[in-house]
Amino acid sequence: MNSEILNIEDIDFSISIDSLIESNIIPPKFRMCTFDNYYPDKNYPSQEEIKRKLNTFVKQMEDFKKIKRKPKLLRKISKVKKPKNIYLDGIFGVGKTHLLAAIGNECKYNSAFLSFSELVYLIAFYRLKDVVMELSDKFDIVLIDEFELDDPGDAMMGINFIREMNKTECVVAATSNTIPSQLGERKLDILVFKERIGKLVNSFDTIIIDGKDYRIRQKKIEFNSTNKSIESIFKSYKPKNRKKLIVDFEKLVEKLREVHPFRYTQLSYDLDALFIKNLRPFSKDELMDTLRFSHMIDTLYYGDVEIFANGECSIFDLFHPDLKDGKFKTKIGRCLSRLSEKCTLIKQNQVYLEAFQQQNLQNTYSRLTYL
Ligand SMILES: Nc1ncnc2c1ncn2[C@@H]1O[C@H](COP(=O)(O)OP(=O)(O)OP(=O)(O)O)[C@@H](O)[C@H]1O
Ligand SMILES: [Mg+2]
Repeated sequence: MNSEILNIEDIDFSISIDSLIESNIIPPKFRMCTFDNYYPDKNYPSQEEIKRKLNTFVKQMEDFKKIKRKPKLLRKISKVKKPKNIYLDGIFGVGKTHLLAAIGNECKYNSAFLSFSELVYLIAFYRLKDVVMELSDKFDIVLIDEFELDDPGDAMMGINFIREMNKTECVVAATSNTIPSQLGERKLDILVFKERIGKLVNSFDTIIIDGKDYRIRQKKIEFNSTNKSIESIFKSYKPKNRKKLIVDFEKLVEKLREVHPFRYTQLSYDLDALFIKNLRPFSKDELMDTLRFSHMIDTLYYGDVEIFANGECSIFDLFHPDLKDGKFKTKIGRCLSRLSEKCTLIKQNQVYLEAFQQQNLQNTYSRLTYL
């Protein structure tokens, strides 16, 4: 068997829930992110200001770490206090996770990085108090990416987590998303967050990152046509240090149903590239499959896995409008934004391109490469 190729049936999805705590390091896509390689957009002066603010925060964390080790009496007279938690909000692709990862990468303290979904899985599996104890014992700061307010149950779990963490000496930094359609009411999520979190809000510095999707700032939109098939591109693709996998969309969706979503991480451990054949839209009755697929995309995004796909639909038709506008619109919008960065559509015809231009979606979704 070709050692570069992995078969979906051969993936060992048996990782344990403990691996979420054990493998809490900054994921591959963000491992090199620092404040130095965060380039503030000159059109949005607040970005430079945020960078300065977070640099100061890192210094406060380092000072706090030093004093944490001192005897109680010395600590009492010291002016160094536990830094406030941080909440970073902004639209898709504005660099929230980059900055969150930079907080972890720049520091001389121990940080744990978890997505909000991973945190929810952990809390659902263990008792909240055990999760808090485990994290606060081992780490000085917990970085939670994508704090979600869509689902009130999950949001409540997150809020209870913060309440318990505030009783410890471990700080929390979190990101959350304002969806593009709420651009005009940019502060909406912050308001919802403040409302949901009630009194705990005082333990947070809430920071809004103004600006545009960096995926648009950086990437040229390329539309090339070719007759290459997904199979031939798969054949010539050379993985760097992981493997490549080609799978039919239906088979993939079926597999995602069989495996608990926290285990999708295995895909990002194993793969450099995922090739999806025969992509087709999710209907409005396929909410659960949609959520599983979106979660898989989030996982692949963290793992910096390249995605190639062909099929009857464009990325923008992948989800039924009721899904895109429904209860989980943030999750789905984020999935589309990430797909636009990571997914190469193969052999799309001009009809989709025209529809895409007509809807003027370029402003929201940046890179689509048509091979
Ligand atoms: N100002 C910036 N300077 C350099 N790189 C940036 C900047 N902003 C974003 N990036 C890069 O752009 C990509 C998207 O950024 P990131 O994932 O941090 O955005 P996000 O706001 O977390 O998006 P999402 O809403 O999908 O979670 C990343 O590769 C990140 O390193
Ligand atoms: Mg992010």
